[in-house]
Amino acid sequence: MERSTQGAQALSSDKPGSSSPGNPKLVWAVPCDCTKDDQTERALARARVPERYRHCDFDNFETDNDIENVPPDQQAAFNRSLMQAKLIVQRFAEEFTPVREHAEPGLLLMGSCGVGKTHLAVSALKQIVLRGHSGLFYDYRELLKEIQDSYNAVSQSTEMGVLEPVLKAEIFVLDDVGSSKPSLWALETVGHVLNTRYNEKRVTLLTTNFLDSDSVGANSNGPTAVSRVAGMRAPTMDDSLTERVGKRIRSRLYEMCRKVEIFGPDYRKEIRTASGSRA
Ligand SMILES: Nc1ncnc2c1ncn2[C@@H]1O[C@H](COP(=O)(O)OP(=O)(O)OP(=O)(O)O)[C@@H](O)[C@H]1O
Ligand SMILES: [Mg+2]
Repeated sequence: MERSTQGAQALSSDKPGSSSPGNPKLVWAVPCDCTKDDQTERALARARVPERYRHCDFDNFETDNDIENVPPDQQAAFNRSLMQAKLIVQRFAEEFTPVREHAEPGLLLMGSCGVGKTHLAVSALKQIVLRGHSGLFYDYRELLKEIQDSYNAVSQSTEMGVLEPVLKAEIFVLDDVGSSKPSLWALETVGHVLNTRYNEKRVTLLTTNFLDSDSVGANSNGPTAVSRVAGMRAPTMDDSLTERVGKRIRSRLYEMCRKVEIFGPDYRKEIRTASGSRA
């Protein structure tokens, strides 16, 4: 089949003297057929971003939501919280460098169901991998399951096939931290991943549904008050971050991450689009 040279550019002529006079040989660069969307899709698949989050982008993260049955001042407070979180995560993505020297190289996005934590985490990951960095997304339960499945009973060791990319990725997103009941093995495994990445100064971005019992009610004028007004469930001792991941991991998370608490409604349930339909 004859190859089209449409859009091709002559890069250089062949070695001097190798072609016959009057008929110079040219080396052509032909643009590949894949579109920017294909490249994005491939980069997201490589980073293991699940299909349902691949649309997530800073551009489509709304911060002027119209929330039904919520007083205007509270809507404004929610939207401010979303805007603030978006700005922090966007700046984090823009300023990303693979090895961070300062104390808090990562981000911990905290908030209740559907406030957009995974959306923002994927938006950052997308931007960073499209700049050519290696990145990986794992759901917390999925990671533990894969590590467990790779455990070799004979050698009593975990296949590095699963763990190595997680330890080495320039940016690692761990989604829904604490979503499964903590077993000693799970906590040790997660502790190992976080400690190794922290010691090697790699950047980790985490999301969790679990706030800290410490932060609830700590400031009656702050966003915590907003969440209470909205009827959001305050964490109890059974579902605080400490209870879900243990004191050591919680302390490590706070050391390695800037904490971003997001207060808002469940986007899946509460937000109407401009056209009036459910989002
Ligand atoms: N502010 C927003 N603008 C546009 N889409 C949003 C926004 N917030 C959430 N979404 C969308 O709503 C859905 C739920 O958001 P997401 O999964 O990010 O929430 P979450 O905080 O991670 O929830 P969970 O705690 O259940 O994991 C996703 O499809 C996401 O794209
Ligand atoms: Mg999520």
